[in-house]
Amino acid sequence: MGENTMNIDELTDTAKTLVAGGKGLLAMDESNPTCNKRFAALEIPQTPEYRRAWRELIITTPQLGSCISGAILYDETIRDRLRDGTPFVKAITDAGIIPGIKVDAGTRELAGHPGERITEGLDNLRDRLVKYAQMGARFAKWRAVIIMGEQLPSAGCLEANAHALARYAALCQEAGLVPVVEPEVLMEGAHTLEQCGVVTERVLRRVFDQLCMQRVALEGMILKPNMVLPGLACPQQEVAEEVADATVRCLLRVVPAAVPGIAFLSGGQPEELASARLNAMNVRFKGRLPWEVTFSFSRAIQQSALDLWQGQATNVVVAQQVLLHRARCNRTAHLGEYRTEGGLEVPMAEDGDRVV
Ligand code: G3H
Repeated sequence: MGENTMNIDELTDTAKTLVAGGKGLLAMDESNPTCNKRFAALEIPQTPEYRRAWRELIITTPQLGSCISGAILYDETIRDRLRDGTPFVKAITDAGIIPGIKVDAGTRELAGHPGERITEGLDNLRDRLVKYAQMGARFAKWRAVIIMGEQLPSAGCLEANAHALARYAALCQEAGLVPVVEPEVLMEGAHTLEQCGVVTERVLRRVFDQLCMQRVALEGMILKPNMVLPGLACPQQEVAEEVADATVRCLLRVVPAAVPGIAFLSGGQPEELASARLNAMNVRFKGRLPWEVTFSFSRAIQQSALDLWQGQATNVVVAQQVLLHRARCNRTAHLGEYRTEGGLEVPMAEDGDRVV
């Protein structure tokens, strides 16, 4: 009992640290195929050396640790080193950022459920988690994908994915890693904001039922959900304030107050819009949120920087400046202080001053 309590205390401390001080998570855990796909779109060579250079650019961005509390790595990255031989994990930790690791093995078609996906990776997960913890990871991530459509999602798909998320989360806590639980309702489709809210609420209910059934300590986890959004093909696209209201109302119904933080995925939203929506939640519900509401973005932090870098060493500095700008904008949004002036975003520096 004593040992177990200590473990929960440590998990709780890590989870709270990950969402404290306006900071949030940087997802840089793209699998090699996903990373290669993003490189291919910009005609960047799809080689281990270019992937390493891109990830080195990210984690050596000066002052990144002032906005980013934790970085989610991919298996290739957690074992990798900077050009000067420093292990990535050491470079991240020295920057004041907590290393995390993606541990799911991606999604496959769910048998008997045409058009739906199940996340794989539970086999041998216990052993892999022990190894990742030895390598320095202090938290982990598992992403489930929920597709909306005619008659979708099915109850079977929700149950299977929620169960896998809960099994993963329990194993993480056993290994001393904070689970980041990511059920993502995709933006693809013509569904309305309201329909997304209904489905997101259903998904989260199943997820928390399963988390409780698998005895996951809610104090020692982070939820990484989608925002409640109209589908990309929906003609009506609500403004940031309406998205904020729909999202927080949904979360308040289903996410227990014991959870220290909610860190949203960006899901392909335009960068500025993702910041504006996160900010609107923190402004409109100021003083009424039982959890921290922050970000765990990949594309909404990385994309502009990647566009600028283009695989060229001469572009590293400017790409890092853009990456830091996005990280600062999102920290500012977590604090509910994000604003634009004359169409330009004005983030806050770590000392609270506006960056001009
Ligand atoms: O699993 C997805 C990533 O962790 C978040 O990526 O912000 O581009 O949706 P995203």
